[in-house]
Amino acid sequence: MSELTPDEAFLTLYTDLAREGPGAPADLGWALSVAATPEQARIADAGCGSGADTVVLAKERPRAQIEAVDKVAHFVEAARRRVAPFGSRVWVRQGDMADLHGPYDLIWCAGALYFLGVTEGLRLWRKALAPGGAVAFSEPCLLPRPSAAARAFWAEYPQITDVAGIRARVAEAGYRVLGEQMQIGDAWEAYYIPMARRIEKLRPGSTGALAAALDEAEREIARWKAAPSEIAYALMVVAPA
Ligand SMILES: C[S@@+](CC[C@H](N)C(=O)[O-])C[C@H]1O[C@@H](n2cnc3c(N)ncnc32)[C@H](O)[C@@H]1O
Repeated sequence: MSELTPDEAFLTLYTDLAREGPGAPADLGWALSVAATPEQARIADAGCGSGADTVVLAKERPRAQIEAVDKVAHFVEAARRRVAPFGSRVWVRQGDMADLHGPYDLIWCAGALYFLGVTEGLRLWRKALAPGGAVAFSEPCLLPRPSAAARAFWAEYPQITDVAGIRARVAEAGYRVLGEQMQIGDAWEAYYIPMARRIEKLRPGSTGALAAALDEAEREIARWKAAPSEIAYALMVVAPA
């Protein structure tokens, strides 16, 4: 097999993974209920990856119109395959989630708003929300008195803050918090355990960029395993103030 580029190696690692970041199906039910998202809602899944949450949204709101957006063609194709059974009410668009039009009753964004910045992204999305609409997003969050292991896990995200800091970024964007909960443990296992299996499958004979991508993913999993009860996303449901 010819050598893969780093991008190809990254996508090879992620092929067939159920999701591309931490998350748990039950959290969507919680967010839809906190946001009071109506049955016939218009929903966006921003940074949908391969569509794990798009599918849950489609099941939770069987009469909703759902638009999933991701910038990576590989993920868009995978998400399209997964949502095909729901027909034309669920569609996947390759594009920039900074450019959402709506109007949406809910913008769901799991593990992706940090690409835009919490304040910047929420400001951009305000015009895409229908009256009474809300945004639900998950964001890296430091728990009180983080250990060295927790800080090491987040070393590549220097903007990380605690839940008070996230609330401040939400307020700065002109939003208020409707509800919040921490994603610790299960949501991360749902991401890292299948990834560890995928690494095991790809490892034999891997070289070059693929071996490097597997090594890096393995190091990330090891950093998470060093402090699993401290590594958290805050799942925030927010609406214009
Ligand atoms: C950590 S993954 C999370 C994927 C998915 N929400 C999940 O939880 O499985 C982040 C996703 O955001 C996408 N992404 C990053 N920046 C983006 C942008 N500006 N517009 C659209 N998608 C973006 C990436 O391609 C990736 O699929």
